[in-house]
Amino acid sequence: MGFKVAVVGATGNVGREMLSVLAERKFPVDEVYAIASERSAGAEVSFGEDDVLKVMDLDSFDFKGVDIALFSPGAKVSAVHAPRAAKAGAVVIDNTSQFRMDADVPLVVPEVNPHAIALHTKRGIIANPNCSTIQMVVALKPLHDKATIKRVVVATYQSVSGAGREAMDELFTQTRAVYVNDPIKKERFTKQIAFNCIPHIDVFMEDGSTKEEWKMAVETRKILDPNIAVQASCVRVPVFIGHAEAVNAEFERPISVEEARAALAAAPGVVVIDHHADDGYVTPQEAAGEDPVYVSRIRRDATVPHGLSLWVVADNLRKGAALNAVQIAEILASDHLKATGSPQKRRHAG
Ligand SMILES: NC(=O)c1ccc[n+]([C@@H]2O[C@H](COP(=O)([O-])OP(=O)(O)OC[C@H]3O[C@@H](n4cnc5c(N)ncnc54)[C@H](OP(=O)(O)O)[C@@H]3O)[C@@H](O)[C@H]2O)c1
Repeated sequence: MGFKVAVVGATGNVGREMLSVLAERKFPVDEVYAIASERSAGAEVSFGEDDVLKVMDLDSFDFKGVDIALFSPGAKVSAVHAPRAAKAGAVVIDNTSQFRMDADVPLVVPEVNPHAIALHTKRGIIANPNCSTIQMVVALKPLHDKATIKRVVVATYQSVSGAGREAMDELFTQTRAVYVNDPIKKERFTKQIAFNCIPHIDVFMEDGSTKEEWKMAVETRKILDPNIAVQASCVRVPVFIGHAEAVNAEFERPISVEEARAALAAAPGVVVIDHHADDGYVTPQEAAGEDPVYVSRIRRDATVPHGLSLWVVADNLRKGAALNAVQIAEILASDHLKATGSPQKRRHAG
């Protein structure tokens, strides 16, 4: 039996990636609905190699009969339509920041806290964490299990695709403008992003941190352990796809570099590439289009009794968003929901 799946935000960076991940991983779909705003209703998006779906307007879409709804239309839109989809009987997996910190909404990274998926019954909504949080907690979980993390200090190097389709266009247009000496237009970013780095993602908070930095702290505590202190500095860099993080972790108990490397190598979703050589580490450009969280540059931090530094890289649109959401859908499908459709009919609506 297959499932009826709606992808809301299907024309965006995350939504398109969701459609390709669903197809690549052969998620058992009976019908797939591609949904976006009125602006792109009637447009076409690809589903897998051979199928094309017509985009439907969210405002008039009826979620009755939909089993799973993967949402990424922005927080304000999810705030209105995710509860509407849940009320109609769909389980919503929401990629936006709207519900992540609600106590009755599970915030899930399947390699870290898959058990939390069971709490979807409370509101019919499961939240997908922030892209930077996801790749960090996948790498921290095996180390936390070994030696208990007390404190994390992280600096991120986040690609422009994390800010959506139009942000990618802005990097492209500005880069071209620099070369041909045209004026630089700033629309999605506060400063020029081409050939630059911007230490400002999401809005400023009262304490001087940004909301992206706050999200990394509170989400890590909700997913991994409420006792971990996290200090983040989040920076946008002129990279199209792939986030990198320089992570420093302080532990309660001793953990050697060799123990950390072995624990990470055995951990689900992690690939360790760590040689002291020119090709012995992974960069965002190499992680783009890939599923794993790559860990490199594992070394001791001798400034604290038990400390390690790591370099963590992943594709923010895949593990940081679409892949994580589809992995949650896979667990829902296998352990929590009953398929309603007919066997692998792969009939596409619209
Ligand atoms: N990019 C990442 O790495 C990442 C990671 C985790 C979470 N997220 C979150 O996921 C969300 C989407 O990100 P994105 O990068 O995919 O953005 P994007 O490329 O700008 O795409 C936005 C999508 O939302 C749709 N949309 C906008 N307003 C809508 C409305 N009123 N009704 C229905 N659909 C509407 C757009 O449809 P139209 O074509 O009709 O405009 C488009 O499909 C954001 O909340 C973001 O924070 C992103």
